[in-house]
Amino acid sequence: MTSILIFSGSARQGAFSKQLAAAATTLINGEGGKPTLIDLADFEVPLYNADLEAESGIPQPAVDFWRLVASHDGMAIATPEYNGFVTPLLLKMLCWASRPSPGDDFGTVFQGRPVALMASSPGRLGGVRVIPRLRDIVAELGMIAIPGFVTVPDAASAFTEQGRLVEHRKEEEVVCLVRRLMTASRRG
Ligand SMILES: Cc1cc2nc3c(=O)[nH]c(=O)nc-3n(C[C@H](O)[C@H](O)[C@H](O)COP(=O)(O)O)c2cc1C
Repeated sequence: MTSILIFSGSARQGAFSKQLAAAATTLINGEGGKPTLIDLADFEVPLYNADLEAESGIPQPAVDFWRLVASHDGMAIATPEYNGFVTPLLLKMLCWASRPSPGDDFGTVFQGRPVALMASSPGRLGGVRVIPRLRDIVAELGMIAIPGFVTVPDAASAFTEQGRLVEHRKEEEVVCLVRRLMTASRRG
């Protein structure tokens, strides 16, 4: 069964992007995948600082995150954009998890790993500006960004109380993306 690690780029309780990640988790299940939904807020790390790394190494939550990445076949990220850019929460975790560490495979965990990109916003553009920026970052880390993406505009009214996407068409877009992700992530 294809395992997918999925998370949002927001720490906010009730974040729209967390709702999108949760909706995608349900859809991955429906497609026969094995999703693991995590909350990056549970993996508290400081901003990357080389002095900190020299003093105390990679923070344990980054190691825990790294291990989760390593134990899944693929990844899916649902994120808001902050000023059109990637959120600090996401960026700092990717920074830490990309660091090499003696005796470990740190720095290579992302290599060749398929990742699907999604964004959401209460605004009308759905956070679309973050997609090419995030695509550049994940490519730099060696990941394979799945062609296409999903954005959810007007996110405040985009989800049902049961956590599904209100618009069937939008749900279909997520299903198409996760199918491509699962095909790319399948091993052997
Ligand atoms: C610092 C900051 C910058 C933001 N920049 C954007 C932006 O560029 N585009 C946008 O659509 N929304 C922007 N927003 C609004 C967010 O989309 C909104 O707060 C959203 O709810 C955050 O995502 P979340 O619900 O997943 O936490 C910004 C919010 C903050 C706090």
